[in-house]
Amino acid sequence: MSGAPTSSHTAQFRPGVQDSTPDGRLFSPVFLRNAPPLIAALARLIGDDTGPVLEIGAGTGQHAAAFALAFPRLDWWPSDPDPVHRRSIAAWAAELGAPPRPAFAIDAAADWAGRPDIGALGPLTAVLAANVTHIAPFAVTEGIVAGAGRALRPGGRLLLYGPFRVGGAFQGDGNRAFDAGLRADDPAWGLREIDEIDALARAAGLQPEARQPMPANNLLGVWRRG
Ligand SMILES: C[S@@+](CC[C@H](N)C(=O)[O-])C[C@H]1O[C@@H](n2cnc3c(N)ncnc32)[C@H](O)[C@@H]1O
Repeated sequence: MSGAPTSSHTAQFRPGVQDSTPDGRLFSPVFLRNAPPLIAALARLIGDDTGPVLEIGAGTGQHAAAFALAFPRLDWWPSDPDPVHRRSIAAWAAELGAPPRPAFAIDAAADWAGRPDIGALGPLTAVLAANVTHIAPFAVTEGIVAGAGRALRPGGRLLLYGPFRVGGAFQGDGNRAFDAGLRADDPAWGLREIDEIDALARAAGLQPEARQPMPANNLLGVWRRG
């Protein structure tokens, strides 16, 4: 894992955030496709849990507001390194009536688990990053996993959602083309190999629990702290 945050660790929101509203709400074109199956999967995994959940790279904040409303037993804490995204996260929470929890400014490649404000949340029930690992340098994936290993409570879960490579293979031609496009934009980006994330997780004290296939050739990877 690398050390201090740098601007090269902070990617623009992709793909395709559209217009924003005067209060700063941004719109992800894939939110409606992703959110229902993700909420159903999360309900099975953490829907009966309590305690704090940290979302890394919350982007527009549409997911964060929807999750906070779907899982009222959990305290959903969003984060994003981009101030424009943090404004959107707050605006979506206000618009939808989700609990107003200001988004943390977290660069996941840095030592976020060692921050006093994150420590003050207490041991985390879960850490979620949706559609982040492929649109940022690998140091961000390393940082998410290492931080989760430190910040999760025993039995707590790391949840990574998005497109991944599995055993070296892309899940569909669309993912192969997506990977090529990402790498053309930035050679440090690209779909991550989930076996490599398993290795990072084990080194951080997290055991692989599930690789749940999701619509559109996405996966929900689940790792659990022992
Ligand atoms: C494609 S967006 C996904 C947003 C949201 N999770 C979703 O699924 O709609 C990727 C997000 O990762 C965030 N990001 C980029 N670099 C990051 C970093 N170093 N640490 C944490 N988040 C980062 C971006 O700011 C952006 O909000």
